[in-house]
Amino acid sequence: MQIKALPGFRDFYPEDFAYRRHILEAWRRVALRYGFEEYDGPPLEQVDLYTVKSGEEIVTQLYAFTDKGGREVALRPEMTPTLARMVSARARGLKKPIRWFSMPQLFRYERQQRGRLREHFQLNCDLIGEAGPAGDAEIIALAVDIMRELGLTSGDVRVRLSDRRLLNAVLGEVGLPEGQHGLAYQLLDKLGRGEYGKVKEALEEGGAPPDALARLEKVREIRDWDGLSDAFPAAANAADPLRQVVGTLEAMGLGEFVDLDLTIVRGLAYYTGVVFELFDARGELRAICGGGRYDHLLEALGGDALPALGFGMGDVVLLELLRERGLLPQASPQVDVFLAAVTPEDLPEVLGLAHLLRDHGFRVEYPLTMTGVGKQLGLANSRGARYAVVLGPEDRKRGEVQLKDLGSGEQRSVSQAELPKILRGMGLEDSRAPSPQPSQTSHG
Ligand code: HAM
Repeated sequence: MQIKALPGFRDFYPEDFAYRRHILEAWRRVALRYGFEEYDGPPLEQVDLYTVKSGEEIVTQLYAFTDKGGREVALRPEMTPTLARMVSARARGLKKPIRWFSMPQLFRYERQQRGRLREHFQLNCDLIGEAGPAGDAEIIALAVDIMRELGLTSGDVRVRLSDRRLLNAVLGEVGLPEGQHGLAYQLLDKLGRGEYGKVKEALEEGGAPPDALARLEKVREIRDWDGLSDAFPAAANAADPLRQVVGTLEAMGLGEFVDLDLTIVRGLAYYTGVVFELFDARGELRAICGGGRYDHLLEALGGDALPALGFGMGDVVLLELLRERGLLPQASPQVDVFLAAVTPEDLPEVLGLAHLLRDHGFRVEYPLTMTGVGKQLGLANSRGARYAVVLGPEDRKRGEVQLKDLGSGEQRSVSQAELPKILRGMGLEDSRAPSPQPSQTSHG
């Protein structure tokens, strides 16, 4: 019997892992450039952490079970509740605003479809303790800069931007009672995707005035501030924070990425202000990233009341988009130098040299089983090695090696002692971590 990976779970063969690393490294580089610090939490949490505030949809998708100690637990489906819990526990001791990022693997029992799996990696960047629109702009700019870092332009990806405060004002202006706002949000969300008949019926059955729903459908057409003021003159005042966010993004030179879109509501229950999603510009794929402001979540989980906002960006859709646009890196060779021994008697010296070169930070391999030199060089080629170093009895006597450029086929004798210096001079990188610098303290 052959046991396969579970549906919706991925095997990362080395070539897949290289793409995953390409994305995760870009995430980390840009987050660090914005002054964010990395954190992590446990992959398994008490189920209550999600039932309190995440919203119905995510709770139905939980991988939840009772552990051997009788605790109700769940694999994390998102990071925000863990973050809120961690920050709340130490809120007073942390310098605000807190800028934290994490790249957890998350688990949701979703119906499998293009761009949606049952596990994914998700970059989370969150800013806690900042209430003003400059914070919203900073978070959105960070998401956009990750797109730019990966080679995507405003022709490839769009930020669709809205604000729950503005949406509430619109629902008030058309005359929908608060009890129907939940369903109205679903209607707005579905308007963006075109399949809203059922939700509309439910609202009508609940007593929503038909002219209110007809006005609400206009939301789909609003693309700029004038369109907003024409359709909803009273609610337009509630757009001030959003206008400031867009103005700030324009000042940063990122305005061309942003579209006003009031059909963006976000499914999660905790959002309170600006909300946004990133999509491929052709609108063919699911969301790349989603986030927004959640000013009451920390308090709801028992912490201090602290304003907060952030986003989650998944690796699955992003990978699809990068693949479609031809923006994935070429496989790079994993070995710099392959050492070959002419006779079994040369092997001890080959081993000594291999380890010397590794100590210098070169990526080195040698044959583990003695074979003919031709076969060894064949292995060197299949590993993508740039250079072969061949050592035979004559070379040993002279303290030399044959250095062969596997690209050009050129070969020359060089001294063993000089080999590290010569290889470094030929542009091979040092794979060693930089040596730690003594930390500076202000204590005299
Ligand atoms: P979310 O919209 O549920 O938000 O997920 C964010 C992103 O994660 C999505 O846009 C998508 O790229 C990716 N994603 C989600 N589910 C899946 C899946 N089943 N398969 C593949 N990719 C997926 C949140 O999770 C919020 N906690 C984000 C946040 C952080 N809000 C504030 N801070």
